[in-house]
Amino acid sequence: MSERIPQDFIDDLIERADIGEVIGRRVEIKKAGKEFKACCPFHNEKTPSFTISPEKGFYHCFGCGAHGTALGFLMDYERLTFIEAIEEVAKMLGVTVPKTKENIAKSKERNSLKDLLQNISNYYEQNLKGSDKAIKYLKSRGIDGKTAKHYALGFSIDSWDDITHKFGVTQEDKKKLLACGLLIEKDDGGFYDRFRNRLMFPIKNNKGEIVGFGGRIIDDEEPKYLNSPETSLFKKGELLYGLYESKKSIADQRKAIIVEGYTDVIGLYQNKIGNSLATLGTATTEIHINKIFRISDQIIFCFDGDNAGKKAAKKAMELCLPLVRKNKEARFLLLEDDDPDEFIRKKGAEAFEKLIKEAHSMDEFLINLCNQESDINSIKGKANAAENAMTLANKIRDGIYKDLLIKRIAQEYDLPEEKLMKYHVSNKKNTSKKSFSGSTSKKVSFKTKKRPSLIKQAIQILLHKPECARNIDISHQFKFIDEKGIDVFRKIVSLINEKDKVKLATIIEHFPDPKLQEYLSKLATEQNLINDNELASEFDDIIKRLDIQDQKKELTNLISKAKKSSLNSTDQGRLKELSRKIK
Ligand code: UTP
Ligand code: MN
Repeated sequence: MSERIPQDFIDDLIERADIGEVIGRRVEIKKAGKEFKACCPFHNEKTPSFTISPEKGFYHCFGCGAHGTALGFLMDYERLTFIEAIEEVAKMLGVTVPKTKENIAKSKERNSLKDLLQNISNYYEQNLKGSDKAIKYLKSRGIDGKTAKHYALGFSIDSWDDITHKFGVTQEDKKKLLACGLLIEKDDGGFYDRFRNRLMFPIKNNKGEIVGFGGRIIDDEEPKYLNSPETSLFKKGELLYGLYESKKSIADQRKAIIVEGYTDVIGLYQNKIGNSLATLGTATTEIHINKIFRISDQIIFCFDGDNAGKKAAKKAMELCLPLVRKNKEARFLLLEDDDPDEFIRKKGAEAFEKLIKEAHSMDEFLINLCNQESDINSIKGKANAAENAMTLANKIRDGIYKDLLIKRIAQEYDLPEEKLMKYHVSNKKNTSKKSFSGSTSKKVSFKTKKRPSLIKQAIQILLHKPECARNIDISHQFKFIDEKGIDVFRKIVSLINEKDKVKLATIIEHFPDPKLQEYLSKLATEQNLINDNELASEFDDIIKRLDIQDQKKELTNLISKAKKSSLNSTDQGRLKELSRKIK
């Protein structure tokens, strides 16, 4: 895949990554000899069985079996994508993730679109300053100049071709405007401006670059709000309105409020509440939540109390269930009559802060919701509610919070806790989570005999002690062995010899196929029966035995070939040589 980060870069990154630091920044760890110990963050335990080996670049929990590399940890614990995990580790090491040629061309194009959007936003801002009508509108909503500036609010004049004329001089320019959603193409091939007579809200990405716009009509026209269409830069499922502007306030308070509308974010800021964000007129996604949890410990969903708001809050809760953990919580607040903007303007910041403090915890919200959805006065309805509550509770990671919630559900529906525990589904073996972009998922299956195959034994030794294969070249060896693992074995041996140093994690991350990674990780955590000092001689011995196996196979091949036709002189010579050797 063109977008893949070069494997060589990944190999070196993993080799240099300090897994102790990666995990230690997120979980409390203690030094224990060459390793670190911690209470496992993936299951609930009191005595630490979670072990981190910096030497191997690998962690393993002897309690629940969780294991992986620094990248795997970031993906599981922080729910990062593979690329995000790479970027995180690169950041810690102070290196930049290299770009492929295609990426460079693409980012050039993206930058030119972002520049254009920034210029247009500046233009809209100027328009606003010159429009009495727009200023009057802002004033009527209680928004002052300082707030307008903070959010770079603007105005698109009432014209079908203002932007087309000013920014779309050449055909090339028009194409760009179309690509970032500012123009709409007519059937006859002409263009017209998407945003007309609207208060303009530039929407920024994490870095503060403008990637799209929202526009609110100033007069009584439809639709009330119009957004940029989905473009390569503008992804509604990932962006949050106000994230860039609120980032500092959120990080300071470790709290973020998600509201429904742009004007809610702005109205709250105007009233000194600077930590709110809004989705772009779409539902909250897992990506949104993960983004916020990276800078905040608490998310408060503050939605309208109408049916749409309730539905949105329920959906947000379902997304949050598997994402909450120690220090990451979600709360829910359904407003009765007003939206946050109207509320704060009428009742002030203090009253709003009070409401926020009273927001339901996730457990309260979950139980209330289940109660509302069934008729809990009937046995059937109660059973239904309890079952629904357990289904939701089961989405939470194993841990004290989940246990307490189950206890609470038992109380709520008058059920013995032990009975309810039968419905408890453990989440600790979450093995389906890794999905690397661009990976093929070829099935890897080594023969599962009672005694592991020589190849499997050899791989296992290398996972424990990569140095055993140092200065060994098997690229031209074992041509006749056709066991499946041979290719993987060959690749591991050549990786070890290409690098000055290689640890277990580097070997695992060298293979993009998640199934193969999992296979190797499991193999690495299996008890190794051989003494550490004997690994090297055992490995040499296996190589010798593999060599014999290979020659035997070659001999068998030659014999069967000879049965079918007469051998040429080279083959004949080889047949003789092998027969002599193998006897
Ligand atoms: P609301 O209709 O709740 O508007 O839409 P609001 O934020 O209270 O707006 P004001 O106060 O009347 O100005 C909430 C969000 O839903 C999206 C927008 O993102 C808006 O901020 N929306 C709403 C649309 O995309 N299109 C619409 O026609 C309406
Ligand atoms: Mn409103």
